[in-house]
Amino acid sequence: MATGGLKLGEKILLGVVALICVFAVVSFVMLEVLRAHSDKPLYPVTTHFDFSAEGLRGGVIFRKMECKSCHKAVQNGTNMGLDLDGIGSKRSFNYLFNFLKNPEATYASKTIDHGSAPKEAAYVAELPEADLHALATFLSELRASRGSADAPLPPGKSGFIDEMVKVWAPGSWKSEFHDIRQDEKSDKKGAASDAAGK
Ligand code: HEC
Repeated sequence: MATGGLKLGEKILLGVVALICVFAVVSFVMLEVLRAHSDKPLYPVTTHFDFSAEGLRGGVIFRKMECKSCHKAVQNGTNMGLDLDGIGSKRSFNYLFNFLKNPEATYASKTIDHGSAPKEAAYVAELPEADLHALATFLSELRASRGSADAPLPPGKSGFIDEMVKVWAPGSWKSEFHDIRQDEKSDKKGAASDAAGK
């Protein structure tokens, strides 16, 4: 046995560390090479902000009226309440306007903050109708591509999700729950639900 040499355990440990370093360097180089040769962005932007003049006015009111103390929109605000980025792909203008004006009658379950006093966001329903119109326009223009983090809907066709559902979801779910991926209507960025006023 050599006295100054490394013990077997130390050699293995060093070998593993060296492998991890090599792996990290190789992956970094590969990623950079791929990125340089691709015209697609590494992280595509999936949330769209394409505001009309009325939408922009709504955005100003959104900031001024402290909606962002409970919500996040256009990637700023707080995560405490509902994230509203992408809500325009889920809710129509009509729904949003009705919700802001008449939250308790519009919301599917009991409201916590929107509604009548002393709820904390009771002031929202009291805003002038023109401001609510602008706010609802702003919100309906916060759209997200289907399947992205902000989108209410999962990707339309995904072999992976189909496989996961097949393997993990109990058979009884098919009759108990509705697979929202099958709603082709909701794929059309809320346009169809706009017509239905939902
Ligand atoms: C004190 C916190 C708070 C403030 C301030 C607030 N909200 Fe909300 N908001 C909530 C909560 C909580 C909900 C979920 C519904 C509920 O429980 O009231 C919600 C829900 C919503 C929804 C989702 C409705 C749906 O059905 O998907 C919209 C849109 C919305 N708020 C817009 C606004 C706007 C616009 C403002 C500012 C004018 C605002 N909120 C201010 C807490 C707040």
